[in-house]
Amino acid sequence: MSESTLVLRPAKDDEAEAVLRFWKDAAENTDRHDTPEGIRRLIARDPEALMIAELDGRMVGTLIAGWDGWRCHLYRLAVDPTLRRQGVARALLAAAEQRFTALGGTRADAMVIHENALGHQAWTALGYHLQTQSGRWVKPLPGYPTG
Ligand SMILES: CC(C)(COP(=O)(O)OP(=O)(O)OC[C@H]1O[C@@H](n2cnc3c(N)ncnc32)[C@H](O)[C@@H]1OP(=O)(O)O)[C@@H](O)C(=O)NCCC(=O)NCCS
Repeated sequence: MSESTLVLRPAKDDEAEAVLRFWKDAAENTDRHDTPEGIRRLIARDPEALMIAELDGRMVGTLIAGWDGWRCHLYRLAVDPTLRRQGVARALLAAAEQRFTALGGTRADAMVIHENALGHQAWTALGYHLQTQSGRWVKPLPGYPTG
């Protein structure tokens, strides 16, 4: 990666399928219910939220930096398996945190699967810690996929 410059940019709505393909390879624990429509909906609602890291025109990393006007939520941090440990995640997170700060956010959070030891190492190294005093409470709404 030394000769190339990492470019960070928002995803375009015609990239939904490419993003899904990328997650199949790079995001080992991706939700199997992700759909192109869901990605396009995200981009339509917040065109800056889905960030792509690109190297020589190739997608090498993603991060969703979701701002709902109240809190800052991070999802789908994923880096091409052949380009890991070269600072791509660090760069994506730095950009996401800058975005949150500019929007008025003061704390970012990420959903991290308990068994994802690699993820824990990376999030810890990037300054995040597990909040033990609360957990996620969920309820499927109409339309939630059951398969
Ligand atoms: C987790 C992941 C996004 C990290 O991406 P990355 O670009 O390799 O991370 P970076 O190079 O920016 O590393 C940042 C820091 O995280 C830590 N880290 C990253 N990968 C690590 C590993 N395999 N072992 C130990 N520490 C690691 C290091 O401290 C690293 O800093 P350093 O290289 O200066 O020591 C990548 O491994 C990945 O896509 N994993 C699969 C998807 C996933 O689990 N995502 C998290 C979902 S919550």
